[in-house]
Amino acid sequence: MKPIQRIAVMTSGGDAPGMNACIRAVVRSALYHGLEVYGIRRGFAGLLREEIEPMTSLSVGGIINRGGTILRTARSEEFKTPEGVRKGAEILSRYGIEGLVIIGGDGSMRGGVELSRISNVRIMGVPGTIDNDIPGTDYAIGFDTAINTALEAIDRVRDTAYSHERVFVIEVMGRHKGFIALEVGLAGGAEAILIPEVPYDLAALLDMLHRSYERGKHSSIIVVAEGACRAEDVKKFLQEHTPYHVRALVLGHMQRGGSPTAFDRVLATQLGAYAVERLLKGHTNEMVGMEGGRLVAVPIEYIQTTTKTVDVRKLELAAMMAI
Ligand code: F6P
Repeated sequence: MKPIQRIAVMTSGGDAPGMNACIRAVVRSALYHGLEVYGIRRGFAGLLREEIEPMTSLSVGGIINRGGTILRTARSEEFKTPEGVRKGAEILSRYGIEGLVIIGGDGSMRGGVELSRISNVRIMGVPGTIDNDIPGTDYAIGFDTAINTALEAIDRVRDTAYSHERVFVIEVMGRHKGFIALEVGLAGGAEAILIPEVPYDLAALLDMLHRSYERGKHSSIIVVAEGACRAEDVKKFLQEHTPYHVRALVLGHMQRGGSPTAFDRVLATQLGAYAVERLLKGHTNEMVGMEGGRLVAVPIEYIQTTTKTVDVRKLELAAMMAI
């Protein structure tokens, strides 16, 4: 098999802290192995506009600690069409790009799958999303930073909840999944955690609040995943049915920003370098990941046929801690 000489890297979908560390790892490990590297700006949208430029070691200097992505990112409707995918494949071939590293979430991996069906470009996905909902890896780049950011916010809110004897309903991101809510709820000592994967009962939530109030606990934190319900709706329900002072807080995009944690930087560096290594060894249509502390690679289609599930025992544990 002919060795590859030129690869490209892009970030796609929602930004996640650590994406820059991963871009840096892809670029520097590729240069180390004697490859040419291009950066594609604004994900698949930028590919279709030929926003492609050479990357050097210097162009990724001083970014390991920066949140967001220096390549920018976007969600592309055009790339979801067969014409868009064909155009993308044609542009990559015209630029002589033989390998493409896509850092992003499940939508971005799907884009990679479509591209791999009609093009000879070797595709290597790297999971990067705060939602951590991609199968084939225990952790996606950005999740650790996001949960620590959300946790810091929850810890701060708890001070006010305690001082004013209030109930706070805090909504976190996660799209259709409850990974963020479960982790920050458990770490933040939330009295209740509502996630989309497990049916919840607002009447039971009321009982729990009444019981804890009777025991002398006059403040509570309820963490809700955006995919389960809206914090505002839960607040309204609680206000209608209890005498407690309830506030709703949506953490929103602040969870996506900020300097990546050490964990995310190391993960991003390992996954970026491993993606290049797999391309060099001739692998294609894969997504790299980390499972049980070991670097792994799964066929990229795996993310379409498998669903990553939350550990519901963590929910039970959180309930146990809330008695
Ligand atoms: O996928 C990351 C994520 O932050 C989700 O948690 C959230 O539902 C979504 O992106 C928000 O997307 P946007 O930034 O386009 O509003």
